[in-house]
Amino acid sequence: MKILIVGSGGREHALAWKLKQSPRGPRIFCAPGNAGTAEVGENIAIATSDFGALVRFAKQNRVDLTVVGPDDPLAAGVVDLFTTEGLRIFGPTKVAAQLESSKIFAKELMREQGIPTAHAGTFERSDDALRFCERTRFPIVIKADGLALGKGVIIAGDLAAARSIIDQMMNQDRFGEAGRRVLIEEFLRGTECSLHALVDGANYRLLQTARDHKRALDGDAGSNTGGMGAFSPANNWSAALEDQFHEKIMRPLLRGLQEKKITFRGLLYPGLMICADGARVLEFNCRFGDPETQAILPRMKSDLLPLLEATIDGKINSPEAKLIEWDQRPAVAVVLASGGYPGKYEMGKLISGLDEAAKLGGVHIFHAGTKRANGEILTAGGRVLAVTALGSTIETARARAYEAISRIHFEDCHYRRDIALSAIAANIGNSL
Ligand code: AMP
Ligand code: GLY
Repeated sequence: MKILIVGSGGREHALAWKLKQSPRGPRIFCAPGNAGTAEVGENIAIATSDFGALVRFAKQNRVDLTVVGPDDPLAAGVVDLFTTEGLRIFGPTKVAAQLESSKIFAKELMREQGIPTAHAGTFERSDDALRFCERTRFPIVIKADGLALGKGVIIAGDLAAARSIIDQMMNQDRFGEAGRRVLIEEFLRGTECSLHALVDGANYRLLQTARDHKRALDGDAGSNTGGMGAFSPANNWSAALEDQFHEKIMRPLLRGLQEKKITFRGLLYPGLMICADGARVLEFNCRFGDPETQAILPRMKSDLLPLLEATIDGKINSPEAKLIEWDQRPAVAVVLASGGYPGKYEMGKLISGLDEAAKLGGVHIFHAGTKRANGEILTAGGRVLAVTALGSTIETARARAYEAISRIHFEDCHYRRDIALSAIAANIGNSL
């Protein structure tokens, strides 16, 4: 069995690491991969955007299954192309991936199906958007319609800020084509939760919940990033919320897709805001979260490979796929980033202490922006590593993750010191 993983981040290392453990003993390729995936399998120097080369590689090497990590290739139709070429691939088609690649498409579908989400207006002209802002209450959230590396969502505190953001997005091409159309929506108050569902077209299975830390700095200050750390399970989730999630979000969503004759097969990750009146959808992602995957997969005891295959084959309800076994211990994943990320940062810094850190029990080190050169591991991106630890409690998991991090060094390393701290503070609060 041969598996090709498309991507080069921490999520892809976690997927490669997990799939490698399948009893079917797959050989793993990663395009283009990083220094971590090179330890699990073989890195192939093909960019995630070079679909022609990916198809050629998969055919020449008789790859049995390709798994797509990031959103861009999905939005650009990599699944459609592989399928046309008779190749097996995990991920939604281009039209289904619009749930993530067009926030306006997702919002309209939610509106049609009555799925709880923020009230929003959609705008194609900046003067219409501005007029709307003049009549609204602040803060508001301005979102570029298309994919913008997680940077296309900006909160405007007042009219002057809104004017400037709308001008940058709609008139000055700050996000290119992605920002020509915008959504302006109400600011929701609450706490966020990441859900992951394996959706096979008609049915789905939930994975364990997680919470991401999107801002760059402690105390949720600084810019939005791809994610600076995560923990699983989420401490703001409950059986009542899960019932509501099935009834008010997932079932209407699948019905809405069916009405549009769109079949979604892949991983659907709704980002939720847990508000006073229940869960509301902030966005839909059509792929595994990063760094949520690095916190979720170390807790999965079941083999991931048959679950991905059941998703592709429309059999996620089959008895084999039905029961996903989980390690009950919580996991905390902390991202180590290059100083300056998500803005400008330097690369090529020597990373030391990885072996020492890995010696700690219950610790997994997932690589993101790393590369191997002359036998050494160097930084090669904004997010460099995710250090995940499991523990009998969230406190011990957290302490172990930071203990491992204390053994890892590279110049200008930046990480948040407060990952999962809110979960611990909440536990203390509950026991008082
Ligand atoms: P999105 O890409 O739509 O998930 O937005 C990125 C981040 O912006 C989310 O994870 C939230 O932290 C924040 N955000 C998005 N929409 C809203 C909203 N309507 N109200 C408050 N915060 C939001
Ligand atoms: N952690 C946020 C994302 O994967 O989109």
